[in-house]
Amino acid sequence: MKININPNVHPIIRAPYPFDEVRKNLQMAREKFPQDYIVDFGVGDPTEPVPKIVRRKITDAIEIRKSSGYPSSLDPLGHPELKVQISNWFLKRFGVKIELDFITVTYGAKYTSFHLPLYFINPKAGEYCLIPNPGYPPYTDGALLSGASIYYLNLTEENNFEIDLEVVPEEIAKKSKLLFLNSPHSPTGRSYSYKRLEGIVKYCLKNEIIIVSDECYSELYFNKPPLSIFNIAGAKECSIVLNSLSKRSAMTSLVIGFFASFNPELRGVFNSISSKSTQGVANIIQDGGKAAYSDETHVEKMRESYKEKLSILLPALKRYGFNPIEPDGTFFLWVKVPVGETSMDFSKKLLLEKGINTVPGNLISHEFQGVNPGSGFLRFALVPGVDDVRKATQRLG
Ligand SMILES: Cc1ncc(COP(=O)(O)O)c(C=O)c1O
Repeated sequence: MKININPNVHPIIRAPYPFDEVRKNLQMAREKFPQDYIVDFGVGDPTEPVPKIVRRKITDAIEIRKSSGYPSSLDPLGHPELKVQISNWFLKRFGVKIELDFITVTYGAKYTSFHLPLYFINPKAGEYCLIPNPGYPPYTDGALLSGASIYYLNLTEENNFEIDLEVVPEEIAKKSKLLFLNSPHSPTGRSYSYKRLEGIVKYCLKNEIIIVSDECYSELYFNKPPLSIFNIAGAKECSIVLNSLSKRSAMTSLVIGFFASFNPELRGVFNSISSKSTQGVANIIQDGGKAAYSDETHVEKMRESYKEKLSILLPALKRYGFNPIEPDGTFFLWVKVPVGETSMDFSKKLLLEKGINTVPGNLISHEFQGVNPGSGFLRFALVPGVDDVRKATQRLG
């Protein structure tokens, strides 16, 4: 039988060949070194346990909810009590009150960011998605599936690793319908100032572009708490905020987040499709979410732990000859390799000589207008434990 595939799917499922080489290198390193020798800064998934307060709540919820039906039978857009917690948290954290009806509980920021271009882009009209490069891969994959044209906003030293909308040609700006914004940004660690965000909002209002502000790293910061797009004058009209408990409360294994928008059209479309395509986030996970949003202690502890790891790794990388970009937030370090080295070769050398695994930056960036902004960079994720980070820095000398 001949299987027909939507042609938009092809570029998504075609894995880039160089990833095979990375996997091969990792296999070689595993054979070379004793067990547990490799310190893996390559994976992007935190390893902290789910907070006790959340685990306890979910354990109890299994009994309490043993005969409840689909979550959507309670409310297709999320438990009202969870939305109260989210709204209270947002007000306390950002000083912005979001009405309960403006919030929808989601399966996290990945699922949601992937799907949004499908709802808001008309490919037949040649509409564009503006995507930071490097950036979170589902932004690109969802845009490709929707049939959108993509204009990448290359993040380079020259623009301080911040998106620069002035470079977008006017005819493309006119056809752009959606901009992905991620502050703090993965993998560069950059957070945007009020002034920069204000410029972005003005540009998007002028060109009628929806801002999808992925704020899933909002609680992982090293000094100043980052702003939400909702803090910016004018942003409520054109923005969607995505946030989640994956990073804030180490709940990647449970996957729960929220969508919020002050614009009735934006949330009308999203909510209508959500309630037609999903049964809602599992009731017990939503219960766990309530516990997570009721507590800040575990979040503060996690921030301290990332700060400690950063304070160990950053000076060691500098001593070794790297040029790391000091991150404002996330748990990623975007590190320039020494002059004359390539990302791929240097990543391999670190792995096979020092047992330190990283991701070559060019593999998580796209070549756009003849430039791959990830070339010459490595991504370190601060996910190994403090002792392992220390072990790695000792090997760097
Ligand atoms: C920028 C960014 N957005 C979203 C996600 C995933 O969010 P969630 O776990 O809520 O789906 C990640 C995870 O690595 C990420 O880096």
